[in-house]
Amino acid sequence: MKRIYMDYSATTPVDKEVIDEMAPYFGKYFGNPSSIHSFGRDAYDAIEKSRSKIADILNADADEIIFTSGGTESDNLGIMGVAYLNKDKRKRKGNNIITSSIEHPAVLETCKYLEKQGFNIKYLPVDKYGLIRIEDLEEAISKDTFLITIMYANNEIGTIEPINEIGKIANKYDVLFHTDGVQAVCKTPIDVKKLNIDLLSISSHKIYGPKGVGALYIRKGVKIRSLTHGGGQEKGLRSSTYNTTGIVGLGKACELGKIRLKEDMSQLKYLRDELIKNTLKIELSYLNGHPIKRLVNNANFCFEAIEGESLNMMLDEKGIASATGSACSSKNLQASHVLTAIGLNPEKAHGSLRLTLGRENTERDIKYIDNVLPDVVENLRKLSPLWDR
Ligand SMILES: Cc1ncc(COP(=O)(O)O)c(C=O)c1O
Repeated sequence: MKRIYMDYSATTPVDKEVIDEMAPYFGKYFGNPSSIHSFGRDAYDAIEKSRSKIADILNADADEIIFTSGGTESDNLGIMGVAYLNKDKRKRKGNNIITSSIEHPAVLETCKYLEKQGFNIKYLPVDKYGLIRIEDLEEAISKDTFLITIMYANNEIGTIEPINEIGKIANKYDVLFHTDGVQAVCKTPIDVKKLNIDLLSISSHKIYGPKGVGALYIRKGVKIRSLTHGGGQEKGLRSSTYNTTGIVGLGKACELGKIRLKEDMSQLKYLRDELIKNTLKIELSYLNGHPIKRLVNNANFCFEAIEGESLNMMLDEKGIASATGSACSSKNLQASHVLTAIGLNPEKAHGSLRLTLGRENTERDIKYIDNVLPDVVENLRKLSPLWDR
């Protein structure tokens, strides 16, 4: 059976060139980058080259990049690192953080954790497209606010937040600005200097790099407190022996991402728009997220009277790997917090389908989906008690 992968926002395959770049660091260059002998220096050099490549895609400087184990750790380190230092040093009086209601759990759960420790978190609502309103942000800022953490682009519905305006507001009120860039990096050009971003999280496995490695951009002069205690790697901010192979892979993935950005963006946008155009021909189907301010590879739909999990399973039987906004908790099937935040009722929110494209997708894949999806939706609707036609 034909198999089509359309879940690139969950993870991507590792690029062949990335694998080739990583391979020598498992064996020949196995040294510990912190060792002073030549084995160590070989690995250290590779780490520093990678750091430069990551900095390069953000218009940052190499010494502003800290390696982590992935997007989740980068979010935790960025947010808690700033929060704890703020608390410890009483640099500012306040303890308020502003975030949005549609963040990834890596940010939301971190904020909830901080809330339990006495920080005040303001969760900004979003409009029907998933955009925060700049007026809401400005209104939420008080003299006690020390951090804004708002994602660059949403992982479910693909909406790209008004990062430029958020950066300006953060700058105006002298508040630090962290953004979760996990879904945006290598899918849109990012210039941390122009955008006034102080901290930005990256994950390697979303950009054709290996899993289990990521990075945090920390603007020069921004102080954070380490969450790990140990050997003092990464200027004491992230102790643990370097994941040399992973870091080399992430660096190569960024280098390729930069070279291919324009081509990737136009190809993905073309395929995404075809996919959206075809799919919206299905009766009572809707696009979730902003029609224009959205990631080039994201299409997220709702189908009336359809349950997203069943749709995923039926598509999987036809060889199509997709995702849904619903998350299965241990006791009940919860509607996605993102889809409910954009105003969908729980029934609609349960009927969502996320198709996220990547470099390997072709026009034939889009055609195949166009052949398969309408029938799958129709068959599911016939079985649905909510479908009364
Ligand atoms: C927006 C966003 N932030 C953070 C993460 C977590 O990244 P990682 O899997 O590298 O921990 C993800 C992963 O899906 C994501 O989409």
